[in-house]
Amino acid sequence: MLKKNVPLPLYYQIEEYLKQKIEEKEFEAGRMIPSERELSERFEVSRMTVRQAVTNLVNAGVLYREKGKGTYVAEKKIEQPLKGLTSFTEDMKKRGMTSSSRLLAFDVVEAPREIREKLNLEEGEKVYGIQRIRMADEKPMAIENTFMPKELLPDLTEEIVQGSIYNYVEHELGMAISQARQIIEARAADEEEANYLNILPDSPVLHIERKSFLAHNVPFEVVTSTYRADRYKFITDIDR
Ligand code: GLP
Repeated sequence: MLKKNVPLPLYYQIEEYLKQKIEEKEFEAGRMIPSERELSERFEVSRMTVRQAVTNLVNAGVLYREKGKGTYVAEKKIEQPLKGLTSFTEDMKKRGMTSSSRLLAFDVVEAPREIREKLNLEEGEKVYGIQRIRMADEKPMAIENTFMPKELLPDLTEEIVQGSIYNYVEHELGMAISQARQIIEARAADEEEANYLNILPDSPVLHIERKSFLAHNVPFEVVTSTYRADRYKFITDIDR
């Protein structure tokens, strides 16, 4: 029952009710929530009030609508700390999820100018161009395009990059990964990205560019990652 004599808007109380049901797993991910009509009857409020609550939760990524069908409980977003230079494999492991990759491309090419400049390479030097779909528990989370200097990692194979590149660099080659710079931008998924990520074209995605360094400021990778914005949120602690 909603409380009518408290300074909390009714739509807000409905939001809290739905969130609690989701938290308690009574409404599980993928399940349809009761219709607007059912909720408005249950709470004795107008459908407009229910719609506002549901729309707020859709905008927050807690629920999603399917045209002509209904409103469903979304999968909980992964909270990714922005501190710490971690790999996809490590991030998923920390959450008890299994990571895997679908390799779309593994090429050795002359570095395009922009990549060459970022990796401090001379004209004509070769780079690996690797494209992977990164999956967690077999579900696509991100598309990653990685460029790395061939000379630095001459023995890289398709098999290695289907596992963890960071693990290979640190534990097989014994090189220390020291720091990175990341730029995060919001974008809309193009058709190809949408297709690989199993989302609709133009859905929001988070585009991240990372340039990482080994010791002595040697750049070893330039990576662009496109993450599903409905599955990810980034968390950072800030001081003042
Ligand atoms: C993250 C980063 C990439 C990095 C990758 C390494 O996804 N965004 O910049 O290349 O981790 O992951 P792994 O070691 O699992 O291959």
